[in-house]
Amino acid sequence: MNQSDTVYIAGHRGMVGSACRRLLESRGYENLVFRTSQELDLTRQAEVESFLSETRPDYVILAAAKVGGILANATRPAEFIHTNLAIQTNVLHAAYQQGVRGLVFLGSSCIYPKYCPQPIREESLLTSELETTNEAYAVAKIAGVMMCRHYNAQYGTRFWPLMPTNLYGDNDTFDLQKSHVVPAMIRKFHLAGLAAAGNSAGIRKDAARFGPIPPDIRESLTLNDDWSVQNPDAVAVRLWGTGTPRRELMHVDDLARACVHVLEQTGEAEPMLLNVGTGEDMTIAELAETVRRVVGFEGPVIWDDSKPDGTPRKVLDVSKLRETGFAPAIPLEEGLTRSYAWYLAQIEN
Ligand SMILES: NC(=O)c1ccc[n+]([C@@H]2O[C@H](COP(=O)([O-])OP(=O)(O)OC[C@H]3O[C@@H](n4cnc5c(N)ncnc54)[C@H](OP(=O)(O)O)[C@@H]3O)[C@@H](O)[C@H]2O)c1
Repeated sequence: MNQSDTVYIAGHRGMVGSACRRLLESRGYENLVFRTSQELDLTRQAEVESFLSETRPDYVILAAAKVGGILANATRPAEFIHTNLAIQTNVLHAAYQQGVRGLVFLGSSCIYPKYCPQPIREESLLTSELETTNEAYAVAKIAGVMMCRHYNAQYGTRFWPLMPTNLYGDNDTFDLQKSHVVPAMIRKFHLAGLAAAGNSAGIRKDAARFGPIPPDIRESLTLNDDWSVQNPDAVAVRLWGTGTPRRELMHVDDLARACVHVLEQTGEAEPMLLNVGTGEDMTIAELAETVRRVVGFEGPVIWDDSKPDGTPRKVLDVSKLRETGFAPAIPLEEGLTRSYAWYLAQIEN
């Protein structure tokens, strides 16, 4: 892979696709190809085929997908299975037809069974039943892994299915109705800092950019209906669950490096399903302490144990990826500092 190669990044405005774009641009790649979903709906086979036959990319990073939280997955499973199956089937098949030299297919660790030995090895795929809440999404992603595997076997393509752990970083979702654990914590600690300083204008500005603050958080921040602060001395950060579950987290820029790393593998390295993560986990309480340090809020934290904890532990075995010579480079505190800086910059812009 070199700087003059044409690389198509599908989903370049998303968290993962935008990280891949930043990385390749910083490495001097000049022939990057992108389309928004308005310009090219990847669920439409004929349009995908004609786009790839016109642009003839050397490499493809497939980071376009319909992604969502528990609620969206539970209430709209047909959309998740249809959109994801259609996008990946169209892109993978057209990439094969055009003789693409390498492709990364991004899945997620939810492809693995609900009760999986930890750390989760790639061999656990399809060994027992899935978590039901996002089954439709997971089944689509498993089909994508299998498509990569069988196209590689029959057609000699070099399609790499990568399964990342929980990601955070630039372009994350900070809307508290939809956000994952890291952006939710960053925003809650930041809002608490504003509330403790009686900075109602700051809270309004934040809500205008990142969406409304749910009632339980408003209560812990002592906010009135107009977002003004009632009692700065009583402000606390309210977090879900007990803080005891263990989770693994990786900065999205490390995932982008992993995507490019596998595409750079020579012909001797067989493309295979690879977990991508740090291989290290921490408790949610430890994570909260680190976020608190990064954001700089000194007040109390309330653990709301009426809210579910989820699975007690989820960590990937990343030894296969390490054997290929890849290691993540961004320590948690540095990654959180970058993420907080990105979040602050969005409020200012
Ligand atoms: N975020 C995580 O924590 C995480 C963890 C593990 C795995 N992953 C995987 O990484 C991949 C990317 O995730 P992400 O977090 O970057 O998602 P994201 O921020 O929601 O971005 C998804 C992108 O997909 C594009 N897209 C969706 N439907 C499309 C369609 N019909 N046609 C064309 N483009 C379409 C969107 O393009 P437009 O912006 O142009 O509409 C969007 O930019 C997914 O496969 C996900 O499973 C993510």
